[in-house]
Amino acid sequence: MSILPILLHPDAHLKKVCAPIASVDAEVKALAANMLATMYDAPGVGLAGPQVGILKRILVMDCSGREEEEPNPTVIINPQIVWSSEEESVYNEGCLSLPELYEDVIRPAEVRVQFLDQTGAEREKHYKGLWATCVQHEIDHLDGVLFIDHLSRMKRSMLTKKMIKYKKDLLKEEDDG
Ligand code: NI
Repeated sequence: MSILPILLHPDAHLKKVCAPIASVDAEVKALAANMLATMYDAPGVGLAGPQVGILKRILVMDCSGREEEEPNPTVIINPQIVWSSEEESVYNEGCLSLPELYEDVIRPAEVRVQFLDQTGAEREKHYKGLWATCVQHEIDHLDGVLFIDHLSRMKRSMLTKKMIKYKKDLLKEEDDG
């Protein structure tokens, strides 16, 4: 397994609509394993294909997080949200492509998602709580949408400016070091 480099906003890959995966073959399985390793290493609770430069409809997540809970590595391929609750929830979201930035985002509190798992089997799952927020955030990535796209234009441009500076500082550190 290998840790993949995570692309940072702004990056053209993060604005693309991703293509469905035709078959869950060995290459896709290896990608899923690498994406999970990359997500745990970051660490984060979710990671989508375009964040590692793969413009395909695949995401991984694990929102189990709390001490006594067993890890629950989840691979979701070609997801479709087939139902969303009318009830909404607010969560202070972050993203591995926008490190250190967090903003409140409003989304449906619960969703039902159809997808293929890492074995290629068709699944349908009901998500609520952090899992629901996370799966919607990651599915957004597959359509070139970032959590900041749910905010006002002013907030979005402020956060984008912060990211441009963050990336510039990173480059400078690499040059100096
Ligand atoms: Ni994200």
